[in-house]
Amino acid sequence: MKKTILGALLVFGIAFTFNISDCRAQGTDVNQLYGMLCALCHGAEGKPTEQGVQFGSPDFTDPAWQDSKTDADLIKSMTDGTDNQNYAPVRPFIQQMLGIDVDVKEFVPKVRSFKGK
Ligand code: HEC
Repeated sequence: MKKTILGALLVFGIAFTFNISDCRAQGTDVNQLYGMLCALCHGAEGKPTEQGVQFGSPDFTDPAWQDSKTDADLIKSMTDGTDNQNYAPVRPFIQQMLGIDVDVKEFVPKVRSFKGK
């Protein structure tokens, strides 16, 4: 599984090299970052992609899942990671991918927006 992630990161890394300058120019736009990075596993509409399912991604559209997590839970997971070894916590992940620092709190409303969709 580790190999898969490294392989995936490598491929994504190459793809992103072409986008980084755009991204920097526009600052940290949560929607754009979500589309570039998070949608790979979490899907553009919050439903996990095939790859996301393999990694164990939750379904952001599931109201039961949404209700099971507080905002503080989400922020903690995105900062520190979870017990799931496949989950790369968001903040270091973005730092590594794009060399920018993000406030993970900004992703909470984005994640919440998928509830019940
Ligand atoms: C390589 C696949 C992958 C990518 C890319 C990814 N995630 Fe995740 N995400 C996961 C997995 C797997 C979990 C489930 C973790 C768990 O249940 O322990 C998860 C869980 C989450 C959770 C819920 C945490 C919790 O407390 O249950 C949030 C919020 C989240 N991701 C946000 C993001 C955001 C924002 C991005 C983009 C910056 C992102 N993820 C990119 C795989 C990914």
